Amino acid sequence: MPLEDAHGRAVTGIRVSLTDRCNFDCVYCHNEGLGDTRGPMDPQDEEMTADEVIRLLDVVREFGVETAKFTGGEPMLRQDLVEIVRRAPDGMEVSMTTNGTFLPDRAAALADAGLERVNVSQDAVDPDAFAELTRSGAYDKVIEGVEAALGAGLAPVKLNMVVMEPTAGYVPQMVDHVAANDGLQLQLIEYMPEIAGHPEWAIDIDRVHDWLADRADRVERREMHGRRRYYVGEDADAETPTIAAGDPDGPAAEYGMVEIVDPVENAEFCANCHRVRVTHDGQFKGCLNRHDDHRAMGEMSREEIRTAFRETVASRVPYYGEYLVEEDGEWVRNDRYVDQPISTADDD
Ligand code: 5AD
Ligand code: SF4
Repeated sequence: MPLEDAHGRAVTGIRVSLTDRCNFDCVYCHNEGLGDTRGPMDPQDEEMTADEVIRLLDVVREFGVETAKFTGGEPMLRQDLVEIVRRAPDGMEVSMTTNGTFLPDRAAALADAGLERVNVSQDAVDPDAFAELTRSGAYDKVIEGVEAALGAGLAPVKLNMVVMEPTAGYVPQMVDHVAANDGLQLQLIEYMPEIAGHPEWAIDIDRVHDWLADRADRVERREMHGRRRYYVGEDADAETPTIAAGDPDGPAAEYGMVEIVDPVENAEFCANCHRVRVTHDGQFKGCLNRHDDHRAMGEMSREEIRTAFRETVASRVPYYGEYLVEEDGEWVRNDRYVDQPISTADDD
């Protein structure tokens, strides 16, 4: 049975940063909650070893954690990533968020090792825009990487797009792109200005909801996070690049799927957060936006990791939305954050 926190949120997932090194320098990067403070990246010897990662996964598996997501920095900079995926505990669903540049070389090996799915960060289908946003020139590699992932059976590939002033204009292209290409889904993630800087880039995500509601052929409301799913058909006039992957002779999917991750506007978001995080240097975090912990995993015995995990779960408090807080021994509605543009945007 999964552990529950004081807000009735069962912890069923873990998100593990394997490194804070990255070969991109995205203008919006929240650096896993550390913000625009990237500076020199932590040296590799601060990272958990493969053995430490596996021990951690084994321990949380005992507590009913069912899914693990590897992230970074760029997790594929770890040379031992395939080994880590292969050694993940039986029955744990393993996925990864990546910038995609190394997928052409290793998508097949990762799929073979048991990786189930990937999220690839892609904010535009235009190479110049892409280069500006990521401050790198690897657009072709990323497109190739997505193709390699689909070819290796890692479908659907979710494209993560951060929606903010500098990218909002690319939303229609990206929507056309997933509508036109089998096996792709689009996840539009509300920009988190507090963590990454540039408050002037924040946009009203409802604009995007309204636009999508018009563009979509069908809209579904999901249980989890109260998120809406938009199903979009192909736009005959759109000029979007086509990805050749999967079964080239197979029928084209009728619809592309688009989801919006909008914790600020969506009061149910944090109330439905089921994931604990672990930093690349092995510290549990109950929330992306909180930095209240913890001890380095490397020094802990299994029993100490169990205790640290229990403590982390017990200390979890939703960060944003209409949740309850304890005041003088009573749980009351917390209005403190409701009007503040703070979010815990997360992809899954
Ligand atoms: N706001 C929202 N999403 C962000 N991401 C990175 N930085 C931010 C930010 N400031 C997203 C990227 C990446 C995922 C892990 O987090 O889309 O794919
Ligand atoms: Fe940050 Fe991801 Fe971009 Fe790397 S690829 S700079 S980790 S958002």
